[in-house]
Amino acid sequence: MSAIQLRAIGLILCAAVVFGTGGWLTSAGRPYGVALQTVHKLVALAAVIIIAVTVYEPMSIGAVSTGESIVIWVAGLLVIASFASGAVVSASDSAPRWVLRLHRVAPWFAGVLAAVGVYITAGRV
Ligand code: HEM
Repeated sequence: MSAIQLRAIGLILCAAVVFGTGGWLTSAGRPYGVALQTVHKLVALAAVIIIAVTVYEPMSIGAVSTGESIVIWVAGLLVIASFASGAVVSASDSAPRWVLRLHRVAPWFAGVLAAVGVYITAGRV
């Protein structure tokens, strides 16, 4: 199996765990389970590392078009928004409602655009 196939499988598994534990955290409510939250954020971090490693080289050698780079940069910003809002929601009992809403919406857009970004760049080195 090639490296890119292994990364694709890894990303699919990570997405299933992050979105699964996210839905579980939402339905279980506060106080959030420590183990569940730890799995949620560490697996999200693992996914971000796999995505970054995959898109970095094709972008740094200019193997992507301007339009494709925009998709990847927007995906990156949405990932940052997902992490930041997740951190605020989990750290504060009185996080503003919009931050909670942001964390319930941004990850879906981040996930779709990141998948497109990985699809575009995979194998372009
Ligand atoms: C790329 C990173 C992340 C993604 C893709 C992600 C995804 C999700 C998703 C899909 C949900 C469920 C939302 C819903 O049910 O509608 C969720 C909930 C949650 N996430 Fe994340 N998450 C990320 C990072 C984080 C981080 C870094 C933290 C904590 C430091 C965190 C803490 C939480 C908490 C506490 C909830 C439950 C919020 C609630 O009560 O609805 N997440 N996440």
